[in-house]
Amino acid sequence: MIRIDRLLADMTLEEKIGQLTMLATGSAVTGPSSAQDVTEQVRAGTVGHVLNLIGREAITILQRAAVEESRLGVPLLFGLDVLHGYRTLFPIPLAEAGLFDPSVWEWTAREAALEAAADALAMTFAPMLDVARDPRWGRCAEGPGEDPLVAARFAAAKVHGFQAAHAAGAPLLAAVAKHFCAYGAATAGRDYASVDVSDRTLREVYLPPFAAAVAAGVAAVMPAFSDLAGEPMTSHAGLLRGWLRESQGFAGLIVSDYHAIAELITHGVAADEAHAATLALRAGVDVDMMSDAYRRGLPRALERGWVALADIDAAVRRVLELKERLGLFEDPYRERAVAQPAHARTRAREIATRALVLLKNARDVLPLDPMPRTLALLGPLAAAPTEMRGPWWGAAEPEDAVTVCEGLRRALPESTVLHAPGVALVGGDLCGMAAALALVERADAIVLCLGEGAEMSGEAASRAALGLPGQQGALADAVFERAGTRGIPVVVVLFSGRPLVVPELIERADAVIAAWFLGCEAGNAIAEVLSGRASPSGRSAISWPRAIGQIPIFFAQRAGGRPSDARERFTSRYLDLPVEPLFPFGHGLGYGRCRLERLRVGATRMRVEDTLEIHVDVVHEAGRAVEETVFLFTHAPLASVARPALELRDFAKIRLRPGESGTLTLTLRGAALCFPGAHLEPAFEAGPLEILVGPCADRARLLAAVIELVA
Ligand code: GLC
Repeated sequence: MIRIDRLLADMTLEEKIGQLTMLATGSAVTGPSSAQDVTEQVRAGTVGHVLNLIGREAITILQRAAVEESRLGVPLLFGLDVLHGYRTLFPIPLAEAGLFDPSVWEWTAREAALEAAADALAMTFAPMLDVARDPRWGRCAEGPGEDPLVAARFAAAKVHGFQAAHAAGAPLLAAVAKHFCAYGAATAGRDYASVDVSDRTLREVYLPPFAAAVAAGVAAVMPAFSDLAGEPMTSHAGLLRGWLRESQGFAGLIVSDYHAIAELITHGVAADEAHAATLALRAGVDVDMMSDAYRRGLPRALERGWVALADIDAAVRRVLELKERLGLFEDPYRERAVAQPAHARTRAREIATRALVLLKNARDVLPLDPMPRTLALLGPLAAAPTEMRGPWWGAAEPEDAVTVCEGLRRALPESTVLHAPGVALVGGDLCGMAAALALVERADAIVLCLGEGAEMSGEAASRAALGLPGQQGALADAVFERAGTRGIPVVVVLFSGRPLVVPELIERADAVIAAWFLGCEAGNAIAEVLSGRASPSGRSAISWPRAIGQIPIFFAQRAGGRPSDARERFTSRYLDLPVEPLFPFGHGLGYGRCRLERLRVGATRMRVEDTLEIHVDVVHEAGRAVEETVFLFTHAPLASVARPALELRDFAKIRLRPGESGTLTLTLRGAALCFPGAHLEPAFEAGPLEILVGPCADRARLLAAVIELVA
């Protein structure tokens, strides 16, 4: 603290504001304004953080300019978006969420942090915690799906993983929980668009993941670009200073998103940079990422009396405290953050096999066992290494990923794997179609690799139509036609950063795997599952719509006064489609089947201070060994405020070999049953509570019991 006091006393205003400024440099481009050479500004002490610079050598050179050539020698903090791996890429978060395994979520974060810190990075702009219920929004890919409980557990696991201590005891990386908040509810699924959700939905859905991140000790929080009912999150004092700092006790750093402070002018709430800087600082934003509003606007705001020097000092203090906590003063080149020997690729493959989701498997065509003599591997994503990364690929080399073609040829040495892309990922070119169809004539089975490219999801990648890009649909139709006449199976491997709306493709395919973006071991993981060396166990952490018209679609909806009933006209339904999703939250098949039975609830009455154990037996019924995920939902049929049809309360996993059975225990805490009451206060109300347990958010497949909540 003495060092910080002394630095604060020595710093000029320009140097103080420099500590509140983060500039981009280097190769990664993650925003509109261009990266720049910041060396001279570093020497002048007018920048305190750098993002998007990759590589220990480049970082060391710039850090040396700060530590040895600036007046006060304050080390820089280097940040990067390390979301699902640094050099070893794991499945994208939406896919990883589908393991429903917090130990894996934490492990991949720690592994990524070890690799990133070994390259002298000190901050990751992750975990992304935006609950997403609109697949048009490309950033579904970056987050943990549609449910706030999953997002909260994901938050805690990722913060613990990223911020795990390195050999010298400092956190490997400072994690940044983003994007605070409700960014996933962007109007019409368009990125950056206005958000307008009720205060109750805010408290039920969008705030809990950030409360969990704060409780886990997250070092920083990043406000969303979007406005919430007209109040931009970057200047939302009520939620930043009010809820986050005061009610949650968050004492860490608030880092703006890229250029977001200056964009308060575009939002229409700030007249100029001085005004924008004033609003952001007053709201509690400490660091200005790539907007210059603080550097140019704060001195003027100070002169006009709009901000006090004490506010600036408080922000600078939080910055210096984080740099001290990261050990940057003693070890600015992070030489003590030595990476562990990399076993990451082996684990990356195992995690990828557990992240992919077997959506359909008609007549158990999968696994391809016995192996087909000749396999036709078609589609633009069959041999596309750079596309396997998904959005936000950190420092991974573009060609580093194993393709499906490489994986299959390695896994099926006795088979002949014939490959043709057929069509390009996008565009109208059909000239490769004939060559692809010719392979169909020679094959005993078809694997068709279709879907989105890595950059068709993620930031600034909203899509208004969620079908197959380009001419991929035409290729699929032609392949189904030819394969049908020959009576050979067609397996579709679907790559995407979001659920796609491809009901006809799914209908016509014999089997469909949602491969999301599985990272560096994608091809090996897919080949292991196709060949039966590994069994699929992934589940979908987000609902799959039948049509765009169903969006937003999620299981935790309130039923309303006329809940949908296809048999009744005057109910909440569509004339042309069922209201249910094509695949519900939690859907995912395996190569074996099991059944749930004997639901036992630990008590028939429950108070807020109680914790209830719920037991269920899981019995292996058929096929191969399974890794089963079981969910615990509740529903309050009567309360002062209508409650969602299903609310997720816990999940657990069990592995069973053929003939085995086991008992799973799920936990329900009374405090978790509090909900925003009539005046948004946390309410625990007496009355009946349904307990529902099953494999996914399909009420027809859930075992149910009823208990009584007593106040
Ligand atoms: C981007 C993203 C944010 C990211 C930041 C730095 O615009 O919105 O998620 O962390 O800029 O790359």
